[in-house]
Amino acid sequence: MRIGVLTGGGDAPGTNAVIRALTRSLVGQHQVQVVGIEDGFLGMIERRTRPLDLKAVNDEVATGGTMLGSTNRASPLAYQGRDWRREVVSYAGELGLDGLVAIGGDGTLAIADALDRCGLRTVGVPKTIDNDIAGVERSFGFDTAVARAAEALDRIHTTGESLRRVMLVETMGRHAGWIALEAGIAAGADMILLPELAFELEAVIDLCRQRERQERYTVICVSEGAMARGGEAVVRARVEGAPEPERLGGIAAQLAAQIEPHLSSEVRAVVLGHVQRGGPPTATDRVLATRYGAEAAQMVLDGAWGQTVAMRDGAISRAPLSDVAGRRRCVPVDHPLLKCAASIGVSFGQRP
Ligand code: F6P
Repeated sequence: MRIGVLTGGGDAPGTNAVIRALTRSLVGQHQVQVVGIEDGFLGMIERRTRPLDLKAVNDEVATGGTMLGSTNRASPLAYQGRDWRREVVSYAGELGLDGLVAIGGDGTLAIADALDRCGLRTVGVPKTIDNDIAGVERSFGFDTAVARAAEALDRIHTTGESLRRVMLVETMGRHAGWIALEAGIAAGADMILLPELAFELEAVIDLCRQRERQERYTVICVSEGAMARGGEAVVRARVEGAPEPERLGGIAAQLAAQIEPHLSSEVRAVVLGHVQRGGPPTATDRVLATRYGAEAAQMVLDGAWGQTVAMRDGAISRAPLSDVAGRRRCVPVDHPLLKCAASIGVSFGQRP
């Protein structure tokens, strides 16, 4: 048996640990050949692959990025103005692939689903730091992103306090606020602004004014997709050819400019950006990624094509690709973490 593996979309710490576990299981334990496809689906279009053996993945449990390379600008469903599905399926045949393991976010999983329907049998592995894939309670990379963001927030506290400032820290997450919520709680933010809960500008100003009277400084953790009531998420750029072309960013700077005239403190906005995504995974993500990779290998052996690794009630599970692809998992407004944070006085930007 021979299978291909590729990684699509933004990297997430733990991706290489998935590839390692998959390869160690299939090649090392079951004599299945594994072919690495370079730069996501672009490698299937441009015919760029390399064999993966035990040596190739030996040191990969702790590395960041993706050893296979990735892109989110080459969907075989629409690349350079046309549909490449037929060529991709035929190239997989030439390579002698019995199936494909696609590691990626909702965009990659949607493409995997489409290819599976055209005859290239596919297993998915969910990958995103945003933790926003339907049916997946915890995606690998999320723990690392939260740890990096929380560490950065800790550092923001000391400089903010020293200079009596209001510090706005913008995290990644697109339209889901999981990173901001968990990092904000972990680092003791005074206010957390989430895409799922539109904030009131007056409530943000009120909190800062109140803290100016009582404390030296204020830390506000802002998810990049957060928006004021009646407003819209701030779009920083468009990446043509990507399944989700809009890149968010800029809400912290926008909010800083809006609140500063109402305060006596100076206000600073910090965008954490790709430091949340780069570098080695936490131990928790290495373990989770290894579990996802081992399960993907078992799904290949079981012939569980058209499905993806998922997680429900803390246990690894499986779900049809079509149930997961393109469906976003946002923070429910009645989530226990929101209630917990509110109970200790963290504000979410609403007036009482
Ligand atoms: O989806 C993962 C993610 O890191 C988001 O949190 C972020 O908005 C986006 O990707 C950034 O994309 P890019 O790497 O294209 O700037």
